Amino acid sequence: MNEEKVNLKAPVYIPDSSYRDYRWMGDYETVYRESVENPEKFWEDIAGELEWDKKWDNVLEWDYPDARWFSGAKLNITANCLDRHVNNSRKNKVAIIWRGDDGCERVFTYRQLFREVMRFANGLKKLGIKKGDRICFYMPFVPEHIIAILACARIGAVHTIVYAGFGSDSLHQRIVDSEAKLVITADVSIRRGKRIDLKSIVDEAIVNAPSVERIIVYRRTKPEIELYAEMELDYYSLIKGESFHCDPEIMDAEDPLFILYTSGTTGVPKGILHTCGGYMVGTYYTSKYVFDIKDSDVYWCTADPGWITGHSYLVYGPLAVGATILFSETTPDYPDLGVWWEMVEDFGVTILYTAPTAIRMFMKYGESWPDKYNLESLRILGSVGEPLNPEAFEWFYRVIGKSKLPIVDTWWQTETGMHMITTIVGQPMKPGFAGKPIPGVVADIVDNEGNPVEPGKKGKLVIKAPWPSMMRDVWNNRERYEHYWNDIPGCYTVGDMAVKDKDGYIMIIGRSDDVIIVSGHNIGSAEVESALVDHKAVSESAVVGIPDDLKGNLIVAYVILKEGFTGGEKLENELKYHVRMTLGPISMPSDIRFVQSLPKTRSGKIMRRVLRAQEMGVDPGDLSTLED
Ligand code: WTA
Repeated sequence: MNEEKVNLKAPVYIPDSSYRDYRWMGDYETVYRESVENPEKFWEDIAGELEWDKKWDNVLEWDYPDARWFSGAKLNITANCLDRHVNNSRKNKVAIIWRGDDGCERVFTYRQLFREVMRFANGLKKLGIKKGDRICFYMPFVPEHIIAILACARIGAVHTIVYAGFGSDSLHQRIVDSEAKLVITADVSIRRGKRIDLKSIVDEAIVNAPSVERIIVYRRTKPEIELYAEMELDYYSLIKGESFHCDPEIMDAEDPLFILYTSGTTGVPKGILHTCGGYMVGTYYTSKYVFDIKDSDVYWCTADPGWITGHSYLVYGPLAVGATILFSETTPDYPDLGVWWEMVEDFGVTILYTAPTAIRMFMKYGESWPDKYNLESLRILGSVGEPLNPEAFEWFYRVIGKSKLPIVDTWWQTETGMHMITTIVGQPMKPGFAGKPIPGVVADIVDNEGNPVEPGKKGKLVIKAPWPSMMRDVWNNRERYEHYWNDIPGCYTVGDMAVKDKDGYIMIIGRSDDVIIVSGHNIGSAEVESALVDHKAVSESAVVGIPDDLKGNLIVAYVILKEGFTGGEKLENELKYHVRMTLGPISMPSDIRFVQSLPKTRSGKIMRRVLRAQEMGVDPGDLSTLED
């Protein structure tokens, strides 16, 4: 492994005095030590703050690499996200505030949300959906999306949410792999004033997907699109006349809650499986501890429910703590570049959780946009999805945080379910570093043999002990699950390279595998390659990520054409369009280079790092395995 030294010099930002004595659990060092010395007590205490139909027999049964958390316990996560608040003092508290692309607003109190969830849950039951059945979502960013997610969890069905920017092939793959019985979609999503047709993508995706029995369509536009009577059902006709009461299905702690697909090193995405009890405890804990969400907060997470951030920190975690949650279909630059800051002012947002790619976009357009609005309500800023580079940190801190707000740069993954590494509110912040493992998380940086590397040296980031919201399996692919735990014995290997400083702060350097992070979204090189090869002109391809100031990385594709085809602008555009239609716009390469050959190892594996080095004009490193 390349154990080169990394420059770790960073200014230290000491939080404003009002944050310094932030203590939910007490002093970090003490709580951390206790949490790793006696993890079962630590997690049991947190779980004890939630409501269970039956308490656990054991906190943890650890049969490496399989964990069972809170075994024997019974619960329903929606009882903690809804009933618990409605039955207590939060009945009339605002649960969700939604702002549409056109500026319209909708507000649901906890009681209203609760009733809508139960009504939709009854609709699902009427269709014969039962505990354990999979429901695939392909929905725009509207309140009905959240209502349907919670309704699904209420009856014990398993949701598998597909981001509505994915193309029909990606959707098809996920429907088939999860064997979804039902698809919930809408006629359109609306972005920058334009309607994007979702329904026709679903129509394409369900061809040769025999598991699908029904499609529920939420129709937003007039005149309403037509539905095919046998298979398709209108969202409102489904719930018409249904009762507003639906008891939660009582789930075992280890019953599946959802499957969420994420890109990996092969062309087939991995269905990451999360279960009810541990996931609830992990997302509740981190929402409360990392974001310090209080009853007076207006919490805004800008992530779509199609990503894990939307699952854990738009829906389940904040609802479990009883937060007021703002979310919006708005893109950050429409109708103008002030819209997000206007929302902060309008709604009095106190906690803002967003992504480095958005921050870098705002940086590009200057301070005049945020400066037009009153951002004084803000008290905590958060970041996720890719490294928050020092320049973006400093801008976020100075321009949005007015040089006094804490920034929690949260490192975690679809697989971890919850935040794992961050700088807790009140700790000194170091731009470029995510921070330290939070209490309950044992993280380290090691070499290929699993030996800890010294501060300042690059290594693999690993997690050395189980945690409640860890993934339990890769759907239909046990081997891929085991792979995470086999790379370095005894550890969960994350797939990121990282480095630690002498204070234990961790800097994430980038992926160690062939996953490319573009605007915070994971794109598998192999997925894009197989979409390209699927085109009639392409015989072989290799896809790499090249650093980019705005998006983090750009996708560059190298393509060998079949006999009879010649490269050129027209074919380049056609190939880009082909990828866009099959996988979706976020996976589209920015550049396509037509080549005669690709660098390969003697065993025929494409050496993407050689292409990347060539693209960036840097030393490609060890070439001893190169074929030619
Ligand atoms: C990257 C998103 C640096 C990392 C929650 C990880 C980050 C992958 C950060 C997971 C961060 C996420 N700093 N890198 N704060 N957060 N990453 O599954 O490479 O979509 O392995 O989960 O994103 O992406 P995923």
